[in-house]
Amino acid sequence: MQNFQQIQQQAKEESQSIIDAQTLEAYRQKYLGKKGIVADIFGSLASAAPQEKGAIGKAANDLRGLVNQILDEKSKLAQAGAAKREGVDISLPGTMPLLGHQHILTQTIEEISDVFEKLGFAILETPEIETEFHNFTGLNIPLDHPSRDSFDTFYIDQEDPSAKGRRLLLRSHTSPGQVRIMKEHQPPLAVIVPGRVYRPDAVDASHSFMFHQLEGFLVDENLKFADLKGLLTEFCRRFFGPNVKMRFRPHYFPFTEPSAEVDISAETLGIGKKKWLEILGCGMIHPEVFKAVGYPKDKYSGFAFGMGIERMAMLKYGINDIRVFYQNDSRFLKQF
Ligand code: PHE
Repeated sequence: MQNFQQIQQQAKEESQSIIDAQTLEAYRQKYLGKKGIVADIFGSLASAAPQEKGAIGKAANDLRGLVNQILDEKSKLAQAGAAKREGVDISLPGTMPLLGHQHILTQTIEEISDVFEKLGFAILETPEIETEFHNFTGLNIPLDHPSRDSFDTFYIDQEDPSAKGRRLLLRSHTSPGQVRIMKEHQPPLAVIVPGRVYRPDAVDASHSFMFHQLEGFLVDENLKFADLKGLLTEFCRRFFGPNVKMRFRPHYFPFTEPSAEVDISAETLGIGKKKWLEILGCGMIHPEVFKAVGYPKDKYSGFAFGMGIERMAMLKYGINDIRVFYQNDSRFLKQF
C-alpha cells in the first residue's frame, strides 16, 4: 500500500517538469502508455493474492484518475502559453461590441414629433416622389412660378400617370403632404408630416440637395392666426426651453394667407452672431388650397407650418455645418 502512495506522490512531483507539448506527451506515456505504470499495476493483478486484488485495482484506477486530471490541467496551461506567445492574453476581459444609436436627425424628428403628439397631432408620412399637382398646383403655386423651374426641383424621367405629358418629381418641400391628407380626410385635422425633401442646391455649409422638413397643419372651423401663434409659441418653449424669445415676421407663401416666418432670438440660445434666426414658415391655409382638395367654400379655416429639421438640430445643438449630418463620421455622431 505504501508503495502506491509513493507512486501517486511521484506522479504529482514529476508533473512539475511538464513545460510543453513534448514533456506532456512523455509524462502521459510514462503513466498511461501501453507499457506505462498504470498498465504495470493492472498487470500485477494476475499474480496477486486474492485478498490484495481489490486494493491493487483501486490503486491503479486512482492513479489513472490522478494522472488524467494532471494532464488535463497541464494541457490547458500549455494552450494558454501558446496563445500568450502569439500575443493574445486570454485573461483580458472581452471587448464590448459597439452599440449604435439613432442618428441625431432621427432623434430630432422624434423629439419634435413628440411635442406635437402630446398636443394632439397625428403623425403621417407621404411620398417623396410626387406629382406637380401635390407639390405645386394644389398648393396654389402657379405654372409660371420660378420654383417649378427644374433649377429648383428635381424632375424624374417618368411620366405622371395621373397627368399626361407631366413628369413626376422629388418633392421640394413637405407641403404636398397637406394636399394628400386633406384630399383623403375631412376636418377636424391635426397632423404632422416629417420627411426628406430635395432641391438641386450646390452643397455648402448651409445647403444640401436633400434635407428634412416637418410639416404641420390644423384644420377646423373658426381657427385664427392667434391659434397658430399660440401653438407655435408653445412648441418653441417645449423644444428650445421656456425662455426662448421669438417673433413672427410677415412673409409670402402662395399656399398661406397671411403668411409669416418665425425667428428665434440667438441670444436666448447663446449661439450665432446674428440677432434673429429663422426657424420656420407658416400661415393661414389659403382658400385655393381648400378648393383644390375639394372642401366646401368658406366652411373651414386652418393653419400650416413647415420647419427644417437640420436647422432645428443645428440651432439646438450649436452645429454650424449641415454636411456633418450626412458624412457618417462616428466622432460627430457619437456626441448625441
Ligand atoms: N413649404 C414651405 C417651405 O418649404 C414652408 C411652409 C410650410 C410655409 C407651411 C407655410 C406653411 O419653405
